[in-house]
Amino acid sequence: MIINHDVVIVGAGAAGLYAAYWSSTKADVAVISKLFPTRSHTGAAQGGIGSALGNEEEDHPLWHWYDTIKGGDYLGDQDAQKILTYDAPQTIYELEKLGVPFSRTKDGKIAQRPFGGHTRNFGERPVRRACYAAARTGHAILHTLYENCVKQNVNFYNEFQVLDLVLTEDKSKVLGVVAYDLLSGETHTVHAKVVVFATGGAGRNYAITSNCQANTGDALGIFLRQGLPLEDLEFVQFHPTGLAGLGILVTEGARGEGGYLTNSNGERFMERYAPTVKDLAPRDMISQCMYKEVLEGRGINKTGRICNEDYVLLHLEHIPKAELIKKLEEIVDFATTYLGIKPWEQPVPVMPTCHYYMGGIPTDSDGRVRRSHKDGDFVEGLYAAGEVACVSVHGANRLGTNSLLDLVVFGRRVGLHVAKNVDAVKLGKLHDDADKPLKDVVVALKASTGKERAGQLRKELSEIMMTYVAIRRTTDGMSKARDMVRALRVRAMDLGLDDKGEVFNTDLMEALEVGHMIDYSLALIEGAVTRKESRGAHLYMENESFDAPSLPRDDANWLKHTFAYLKDDGTIDLQFRSVYLIHEHPEDGWSPELMEKMKPKVRKY
Ligand code: FUM
Repeated sequence: MIINHDVVIVGAGAAGLYAAYWSSTKADVAVISKLFPTRSHTGAAQGGIGSALGNEEEDHPLWHWYDTIKGGDYLGDQDAQKILTYDAPQTIYELEKLGVPFSRTKDGKIAQRPFGGHTRNFGERPVRRACYAAARTGHAILHTLYENCVKQNVNFYNEFQVLDLVLTEDKSKVLGVVAYDLLSGETHTVHAKVVVFATGGAGRNYAITSNCQANTGDALGIFLRQGLPLEDLEFVQFHPTGLAGLGILVTEGARGEGGYLTNSNGERFMERYAPTVKDLAPRDMISQCMYKEVLEGRGINKTGRICNEDYVLLHLEHIPKAELIKKLEEIVDFATTYLGIKPWEQPVPVMPTCHYYMGGIPTDSDGRVRRSHKDGDFVEGLYAAGEVACVSVHGANRLGTNSLLDLVVFGRRVGLHVAKNVDAVKLGKLHDDADKPLKDVVVALKASTGKERAGQLRKELSEIMMTYVAIRRTTDGMSKARDMVRALRVRAMDLGLDDKGEVFNTDLMEALEVGHMIDYSLALIEGAVTRKESRGAHLYMENESFDAPSLPRDDANWLKHTFAYLKDDGTIDLQFRSVYLIHEHPEDGWSPELMEKMKPKVRKY
């Protein structure tokens, strides 16, 4: 069947819904989601959304901008980072008007708490910048945006999985998408003038992750197979406080409210590594320090081993129980339910968990998708926003609370851009058999007598990525990972299904998902092994030994974005694009002192 809409948005998290909200002021909009919208992973975002509102103490978007540049280890595009931080206050107030129930200060303003890497006055000390709704900030934003989209008569196709993108032959213009209806097992082509990808994260290719089951990065696989590039995929954030062995997120808001980490000596080790901000250092630093503590034998069980065996402790016992429950109810629930620990009495065992992709589909600051690494080369009508996109505002490491902010600032900007331009976009001519490639794959999979199973391939993939391409990376480890994942790609050609049915065939979906996961993992590994430096979340060790030195950051050679293209033989071609630094664009009118502040320098906290 062919379905027609002006605008189709893939993904129903905050970025997709905000884009839908604004585009639906001018166009007929459909949102397609593999989940029911309010089950999107935005709902798992806990501790806050960053914005220099200055409600609890003096703050300024300029300081937020500076922190975001420094937090990203200078790899972010500074013009886009300025938009993120300066658009933040108006976006938060718009969300407030739309109905987001933010927690409040005593005098009724939006409450704010400290978060990692957010400082006042260019690094002087932590600042209260994270606006929050208890520890369910993402949940509150998601539900509010969904309600507003329903009010605006946005069309929803829930439990439809988009599995292909339809472009003109020269890939200069988008024509629509191909989606699989999970309930009926039917394939539909959605023909549209504008397509927005807002499909979220891809962290399920790591064995320990805070990401939900749905975060299989289908869009990343789809884009690679269409010959479109992915940017900076090697930068994967590990959040320091996953519940040990499980990876379930314990919000950084817990440290914002006074929580702190200790090793087996009872030492607050972050005081050694980041004397100014301590446990509120950025995530890349804290996660790397936690690994170091464990590998050097100061983890709680003193095994010196990472994988599920050793951990450090997060202390919240000094915070009164009533306050813990009021401000961090989810954390109390998670620790009690999953580890049997009462955080008001005992410390919580934690270790880093794969949390966020800084890279993704390259876009400009209105969300327009780049067709290549070359300037001004876009796919007409195609947009991306949210975690799946790389604007790039997070550089090599995202600050906590800048993810929800990225979703709403750029989701909203895409919606506004679409609303302004959609009338001028011409509907492209759809070819008759746009859904044939997907249909052929489905038929082949159902007919296959292959011996491989998606679950097994996915398990192996996530263990390879966790072992060799997680927090500490080496040439040997990553080369081994690349060989092993290439071998998985070959094995995936022999996939078979146990369920050949039509209705809710999750076996079929998992088979398609694992193919995407393998492809984008290859792009990730290629970027990581090629980028011969340590920057942000990419810590490149000289060798495997636990006390090996790391390669230094190398601005002379590596202050640039990677663009990964998938070749027909399954190998990856890497191209590069320069980083936008404001001191190289003095026409923006910034003072020499300010431009000096934003210039890349050694990152200390
Ligand atoms: O720790 C957290 O609440 C996560 C926030 C984020 O990823 O921005």
